[in-house]
Amino acid sequence: METRLSKAVLGINPSPTEATSFLANQMKMDGIDIISFAQGEPDFDTPLNISREAARAIDEGYTRYTDVPGMREVREAVAEKFEKENGIRYRPSEVMVSNGGKQVLYLLFRTICDPGDEVIVPTPCYVSYEEQIKLSGAVPVFAPTKKENHFRLTRKDIEKFITPKTKAVLINSPNNPTGAVCEEKDLREITDLAVTHDIFIVTDEVYEHLLYDGRKHVSIAAFGEDARRNTVTVNSASKTYAMTGWRIGYAGGPEDVISGMITLQGHVSGNVCSVSQKALLEALRGPQDAVSEMRDSYAKRRDLMVEKINSIPGLSCIRPDGAFYCFADIEGLYGKQWREGTLRNDMDAAAFFLKEAHVAVVPGTGFRWGGYVRFVFANSEEDIVKGLDRIGSAVVSKLKG
Ligand SMILES: Cc1ncc(COP(=O)(O)O)c(C=O)c1O
Repeated sequence: METRLSKAVLGINPSPTEATSFLANQMKMDGIDIISFAQGEPDFDTPLNISREAARAIDEGYTRYTDVPGMREVREAVAEKFEKENGIRYRPSEVMVSNGGKQVLYLLFRTICDPGDEVIVPTPCYVSYEEQIKLSGAVPVFAPTKKENHFRLTRKDIEKFITPKTKAVLINSPNNPTGAVCEEKDLREITDLAVTHDIFIVTDEVYEHLLYDGRKHVSIAAFGEDARRNTVTVNSASKTYAMTGWRIGYAGGPEDVISGMITLQGHVSGNVCSVSQKALLEALRGPQDAVSEMRDSYAKRRDLMVEKINSIPGLSCIRPDGAFYCFADIEGLYGKQWREGTLRNDMDAAAFFLKEAHVAVVPGTGFRWGGYVRFVFANSEEDIVKGLDRIGSAVVSKLKG
């Protein structure tokens, strides 16, 4: 039958992370005890001070439309945060809030890209960049990072992909799915490159607070006036404050870009949920203890997960410096047989883990990097041990060859 759908929508794929979680949830509903390392979200509840402020906002009647860019006091709090934590001075007119980091990114690509423009996306990469860039009419150009460099992005990785059509380069540090964190030296070199070629830097800093072993986050827009003019800083409450369900993110950048995004948002969603804005206000201005407590807990789980993965024959992973993901090389399982055939790629491995060990992971192909799968360690230590023990025994007892 001839399709009735637009070419734009036909040209994109469903999010592989959501597809895996969906399948795992289906199995759970069928009564199977599934351990999911698939969904990239904190297992903590939103800190109570934040939820209470939101409840108070409802009681006090903050339930109506707000300004499209965000309530004035929320934009002020975002600008304060950028100055205090990132060393970037944005005026409130240079920031906007949106429905999660995801919508910020979508609005941004639509605001800066014309059909045929190119956006350089280092890989492995977060699943939605590609589809959002395509929806804006632009072309994602994938720039692989190097496994030998622990997937840390360098100037060399991207400079060969710059063409007269390049509109922007995307940086995601700490990275989803690898947990790699760029070195400041490399970020400065990439910034010089972008400024020289007058291309935008889209810096997705949603994992900025999830850094381990004493590492400090560095924001590109703080490097100076040239950097600031070319950079849009994207962030969100989701990962830092365990607020994935509240759908609240924000951006800081040059006023023309931010105002374009606001105009677009006005016709896409209008304002962002008023209650979530009040929650963000409390998240940014209230006590920050929960952030470091969660980080300390993730650090322990990271060490546990890395150790467990590396003890399974055929699997190996690097210790990630940030975020809450272990990106594991599973090519050592290739060629082995199980009841559904031969393991030939990361999708087969993920299917094997799900069906034989009842553990859900996301295949690396979803992040444009085959031969790997992503494990989320925002799970209890108990589940990390149980899930990886199950994979270990499935690998030993259910694979032949
Ligand atoms: C790298 C990265 N950017 C952005 C997002 C979007 O997060 P949210 O829309 O919940 O703010 C995610 C979510 O997983 C992510 O991993």
